[in-house]
Amino acid sequence: MRARRALLYMPGNDLHKIQKAATLGVDCVCMDLEDGVAINRKSEARSTIHQALLSLEFGKSERLVRINRVGSGLEHDDLELTITAKPDGFVIPKVDHADQLVWVSNQLERYEQKHAWPKNDIYIFAIIESPQGVVNLTEIARASTRLQAIIFGAEDFAGAIGAIRSPEAWEVFYARSAVVTHAAAENLQAIDMVFVDLNDSDGLLKEAKLGAQMGFSGKQIIHPNQVNLVQEVFSPSEEDIQKAKSLIEAFQEQQEAGVGAFALGGKLIDAPIIRAAEQVLAKARAAGKID
Ligand code: COA
Ligand code: MG
Repeated sequence: MRARRALLYMPGNDLHKIQKAATLGVDCVCMDLEDGVAINRKSEARSTIHQALLSLEFGKSERLVRINRVGSGLEHDDLELTITAKPDGFVIPKVDHADQLVWVSNQLERYEQKHAWPKNDIYIFAIIESPQGVVNLTEIARASTRLQAIIFGAEDFAGAIGAIRSPEAWEVFYARSAVVTHAAAENLQAIDMVFVDLNDSDGLLKEAKLGAQMGFSGKQIIHPNQVNLVQEVFSPSEEDIQKAKSLIEAFQEQQEAGVGAFALGGKLIDAPIIRAAEQVLAKARAAGKID
């Protein structure tokens, strides 16, 4: 599993922001061709992204490109004019049906064959941001072996269902939780919604913590100031890691003694608790906190 604790967007036509993003140590850098780019700048953005991918050193960051909606009429050129610079993956917005991912996957297969790249080398990420997308999550999550994560887009979703956004975000809770559940069912990661208030770090912390509690692997972000806070929240703490290790150790001892459930520090410990502890260690490993 690769750590995807923060996925930072920047407009694809803004080379300065791409250059900056490449230096931040953020898990995923997502160069945007969709809503962050004006319609008359799409073509410029495609060539800026292509150039950036070929010339910049992104360190450990995963290099992603967000294309326009499959069905917008822009998606073909978005792929065609960036693919030869071989990003690590494409982020597909406004996914309502599995067919949209199948289309992208088939296109990528064509390019992989053409360039003699390994099969399934280029990943895809699906953004769910409509009621149709939520309703069709079962088929979407199974649409392609390239799929790595499902991303939740709260703003478009809230608009589509006629909800009014609030700091507690109860209006999108069902969809948010559905994304995590369907992703987990197919062994995929889930990436939580954007927090748009750049000056409210308390609000960001609260929302990121809730996302981590809900089972998200990471969160979409829009500003360099959000990188460290969000990556920290989605990394297990030293205390979490030690606790998980001791639980697993105690569990193994009890298993050997023929005991399946026992109390430790006044709390029941059994197999589900141990599976959760193993998840903590997997996240810690992905974040480079343990070997
Ligand atoms: N990625 C990389 N660098 C970014 C960045 C981002 N998303 N947002 C800001 N920066 C850089 C700025 O270029 C600036 O760099 P400098 O100090 O070298 O000049 C520095 O970080 C501070 O930026 P700041 O002045 O606070 O913000 P801004 O006014 O330049 O930009 C936004 C504010 C909201 C326009 C900008 O953060 C942004 O474009 N975010 C992404 C929006 C997006 O992609 N939306 C679509 C997906 S939801
Ligand atoms: Mg959107």
